[in-house]
Amino acid sequence: MREPKRVAVLASGGGTNLQALIDHFNPAPAPAARVELVVASRAGIGALARAERSGIPGVVLEGQDALAGRMLAEMERHRIDLVVLAGWLQLVPPEVVERWHGRMLNIHPALLPAFGGKGMYGMRVHRAVIESGVRVTGATVHRVSDRYDEGRIVAQWPVPVLHGDTPERLAARVLAVEHRILPLAVEALARAGDPPPEVLGPLSFDLLEAPAPPSESIRVTLAHDAEPSS
Ligand code: GRF
Repeated sequence: MREPKRVAVLASGGGTNLQALIDHFNPAPAPAARVELVVASRAGIGALARAERSGIPGVVLEGQDALAGRMLAEMERHRIDLVVLAGWLQLVPPEVVERWHGRMLNIHPALLPAFGGKGMYGMRVHRAVIESGVRVTGATVHRVSDRYDEGRIVAQWPVPVLHGDTPERLAARVLAVEHRILPLAVEALARAGDPPPEVLGPLSFDLLEAPAPPSESIRVTLAHDAEPSS
């Protein structure tokens, strides 16, 4: 039986996406992947407490000073196969992106390439979405490159912008979708073979089924889309 892929999750905040990954993978009897390390950008954040509650090692890597070396050392020590940025607010050092090329994913709370890039995070994204007047936003999972929010898109799930939405209400609906789409995208990557193909997915989900289609129907799409292309 194939060993589960060892996942490091990088987080800067409350860690609800981390929790979705832990819940999806860690208790499963034979998961495709398992969260084995949490890297936090500062001490005391919710993501670290969640790691601790689940018995997953957590490490704080504060500041930019020698970040690449420290991050590489931790991830190599834990024999990490896949890296997931789940609310990680800094640019990942190029050495780390290079080392996990094609095996690093980020979740963004909008439909990229719209509403992404430097400074577009958290409530700023949802405020910009509402101010722009678009009627649809959503969540995007994409491969990480050395530029903010620009790697190849793996999965997207649309969320309608409702009349009278506040950034907070919209954020909550998008976050619920993030919690569904992220584990599915990580699972697709974990099952995609080694090295993973350049093009993964795209996994996309039907707006008409929002907020969440039954998981069985997602799995069918996923199994089909995750087939290695060769
Ligand atoms: C999510 O909206 C994620 O997309 C964004 O930051 C938020 C993190 O939430 N990058 P959490 O820390 O996973 O709860």
